[in-house]
Amino acid sequence: MARSGKVAVIGAGFYGSTTAMRLAEYDIFDTVVLTDVVDGKAEGLALDLNQSRWIEGFETKVVGQTTGPNGEGYEAIAGSDIVVITAGLPRKPGMSRMDLIETNARIMRQVAENIAKHAPDTVVINVANPLDEMTALAQIVTGFPYQRVIGQAGMLDTARFTHFVAEELKVPVASVTTLTLGSHGDTMVPVASACTVDGKPLSELLSPEKIEELVVRTRNGGAEVVALLKTGSAYYAPSAAAARMAKAVHEDSGDVMPVCAWVDGEYGLSGAYLGVEAQLGAGGIRKVIETPLTAEEQALLVEAYEAVKAKQADVKDL
Ligand SMILES: NC(=O)c1ccc[n+]([C@@H]2O[C@H](COP(=O)([O-])OP(=O)(O)OC[C@H]3O[C@@H](n4cnc5c(N)ncnc54)[C@H](O)[C@@H]3O)[C@@H](O)[C@H]2O)c1
Repeated sequence: MARSGKVAVIGAGFYGSTTAMRLAEYDIFDTVVLTDVVDGKAEGLALDLNQSRWIEGFETKVVGQTTGPNGEGYEAIAGSDIVVITAGLPRKPGMSRMDLIETNARIMRQVAENIAKHAPDTVVINVANPLDEMTALAQIVTGFPYQRVIGQAGMLDTARFTHFVAEELKVPVASVTTLTLGSHGDTMVPVASACTVDGKPLSELLSPEKIEELVVRTRNGGAEVVALLKTGSAYYAPSAAAARMAKAVHEDSGDVMPVCAWVDGEYGLSGAYLGVEAQLGAGGIRKVIETPLTAEEQALLVEAYEAVKAKQADVKDL
């Protein structure tokens, strides 16, 4: 595929800079723009990434831009087809994602206002935590149609679950299919009925207790990394997830993946951002896909929906 278009990544921390690197290394964009409020940080990382082009063999140019409190510098994102929002504080050991809500909501408001002003036709992929709430806030502040504001969580949780299953069974990750829906947090819904290894149902290969153990580890997957790092949170797998979503949008691929999307009647649920499978294309979400669920999985998804809906109800006041 020929190189084209522009993608912007807001926030040049660990998540943002690794996402920018992955997007640049795909070599499918003309330009990757990386921004941050810390003076020179985005420019420095962009220069560093550009100097890796010859070794890694990509031509995409990375542009770094410091942004100011009043939106200075945001002209750099004009014309972006996709904007990935990574600006926001990460967790420290012992913190829940909800502990970040007030600070990250302040950051999100400023970022989303400037995206609406400078890139009004873009597709937004949010990763800032707490994920479901910050995605809802990004949609409210930008005023973009729901299908143009997406959150990243399900790809990551599914990738973590897949890794744990592959490790347990000592098989290649490529032979494992898993799926998680619901929310990025306590109400993550593992869809055991959709999990297979080389086409065989996971339930025939692992005991229910072992599957539950891997589910719990997946649910706490972010906290496990945070506890080991002691400062900051995961970014290699998270950036792979966000970059993969941006690629699907850029290529108008129609790929189906678990993402945080607005539900409007699917599974009998409406009016909230929820982790579901969706088909991605140039306009963002083409369609939310209803995965066949067992009665128990459907009940868990309804529980997740009720929890995220309640939290999203107050988001506009943040
Ligand atoms: N959705 C997920 O699956 C997932 C996974 C991991 C991390 N996260 C979240 O991603 C976010 C970023 O994580 P990180 O590890 O990169 O943190 P980080 O601290 O390394 O980087 C955050 C960056 O945002 C910048 N920033 C702050 N305010 C800004 C603003 N107004 N405009 C532009 N930039 C601003 C900071 O200067 C910093 O460089 C956190 O909220 C974290 O919880 C989400």
